[in-house]
Amino acid sequence: MRKYDAVIFDLDGVICSTDEYHYLAWKELADSLALPFDRQYNNKLRGVSRLESLNLILALGERQYSDEEKQAMAQKKNDTYRRLLEKMSPADVSDDVLSTLNELKRKYPLAIGSSSRNTKFILSRIGLADFFDAVIDGNDISASKPDPEVFLKAADALSQRPSSCLVVEDAAAGIEAAVRGGFDSAGIGDASRLDGAKYHIERLSDLLGIL
Ligand code: BG6
Ligand code: MG
Repeated sequence: MRKYDAVIFDLDGVICSTDEYHYLAWKELADSLALPFDRQYNNKLRGVSRLESLNLILALGERQYSDEEKQAMAQKKNDTYRRLLEKMSPADVSDDVLSTLNELKRKYPLAIGSSSRNTKFILSRIGLADFFDAVIDGNDISASKPDPEVFLKAADALSQRPSSCLVVEDAAAGIEAAVRGGFDSAGIGDASRLDGAKYHIERLSDLLGIL
């Protein structure tokens, strides 16, 4: 008997890597504000929404900003980020990821559950715009990970209960969201060391030994 009826994937850090582009775009903004932002701090922003990420960066300094100023800064960062995303192509999906997705698609409904409002743009850049059965992203939710909303909506879109879905995540906020939503999860990358994840995987193809 199979353990799960569907799989929900985080996008950034699981299907493709956008970390460096997020970092470069936030770094440009942080430098303009003379804030000591580095790659290590950037890791804290994984899975976290754009505005919450900005708040974490602004917390590196003393100054308070109005909501309008924050909106303008988030917009500026996103403009830089979108320009960097233009560089992405299907070559940004590894052979391991692509072959695993194709194999799983033959047996399971598959969804994306991402905090990013750029999800659909990224999926189109990497050639997976029409691949998934459901895509729930930052535009569809009112609370970002670690709130489980994005995964609950993804399960619902696949007509599945949380306990029937496996969530695949690379971020602490995403593993926590899965736990809070009643999902089993597989942690990959940094999340492969997190306690909340039921499975710890090195590469996406390790899922084939679980599912
Ligand atoms: C997540 C990333 O997928 O999306 C976070 O891990 C990012 O780092 C979040 O902040 C929101 O992204 P976007 O594209 O809406 O700015
Ligand atoms: Mg991620």
